[in-house]
Amino acid sequence: MINKLQQLEKDALAELAAAKTEDQFLNIKTKYLGRKGLLTGLLRNIAQVSDEEKPLFGKLCNEVKNSLNAKIDEVLQQQASRNREDILSREKIDVTLPGKYVPSGRIHPVVQIRREICSVFASFGFSIVEGPEIELDYYNFEALNIPKDHPARDMQDTFYIEDNIVLRTHTSPVQVRVMEKIQPPLRILSPGKVYRRDSDVSHTPMFHQIEGLLVDKGVTFADLKGILTAFLKKIFGDGTMLRFRPSFFPFTEPSAEVDIHCVMCGGNGCRVCGQSGWLEILGSGMVDPEVFKNVHYDPEVYTGFAFGLGLERIAMLKYGISDIRLFFENDIRFLKQF
Ligand code: DAH
Repeated sequence: MINKLQQLEKDALAELAAAKTEDQFLNIKTKYLGRKGLLTGLLRNIAQVSDEEKPLFGKLCNEVKNSLNAKIDEVLQQQASRNREDILSREKIDVTLPGKYVPSGRIHPVVQIRREICSVFASFGFSIVEGPEIELDYYNFEALNIPKDHPARDMQDTFYIEDNIVLRTHTSPVQVRVMEKIQPPLRILSPGKVYRRDSDVSHTPMFHQIEGLLVDKGVTFADLKGILTAFLKKIFGDGTMLRFRPSFFPFTEPSAEVDIHCVMCGGNGCRVCGQSGWLEILGSGMVDPEVFKNVHYDPEVYTGFAFGLGLERIAMLKYGISDIRLFFENDIRFLKQF
């Protein structure tokens, strides 16, 4: 029996030495030390051992059992640490590798300019409001004192949806919609899309405008000049030279267009400014009393000024872009530059 025991220990060690996987180790453990295992079987047959040898046999059995158990635990642990190292080496991260390029969008230059202008006027206390792009003839023309025979009303210039419904040709109708709802004092700024039947290097059928309106008691042309000067210096720089040039709009009286010194030549005269040294940047004026009457404001009590400007035009001047159509072609190479 003792020989059998020694043989069994040898066999078990040999099998362990040949085994490679955790499963194999565990199978060997069950085969020899499990409840129906070979060593357990030997112990169960202790009756066949002579009485003198019984204590020795029992002791040897225990020793073999303990040493096999210890050996198996040891190889299992070695196996586990080999597994860990294996995983670590397979999953290691090289933090010095260059990152993957994730393409990201940019804010469209027209949106950038819109945000910039809105934030300047917000700092002057203006609220941002919006109006509909599909507009009644009344708001787009009639209430703004634009007469029936005005060329802007021609089918050649305006997109008509029905006889009295148009795609708004400017953001000025928002002035009327706001004044119908709110009593002065008020200061609003209204950005949005406008539509005209026009298409060449400096015109697109849809473009963006911003409208401004300030109404209160005692507002004068000096207020208009002050606010617009402060605004244009914020957008184009403190040193920007401006001039206010008399003009005409049916909804303002008096009216002025504002020019800035040409951003390309600094006022010396070049192709962009048509050799004049000046660039027209916005239209403005004191709100015409006829417009106030249409919204039931008393022109004897209130005065105000309004202005309107084209966002693409400002973006073109600010960034030196020569073709307005680039804004709408969505060529990534163009848009990425902003
Ligand atoms: N609505 C005019 C246009 O589209 C621009 C304009 C001029 C707006 C003078 C105004 C203004 O509010 O006072 O050409």
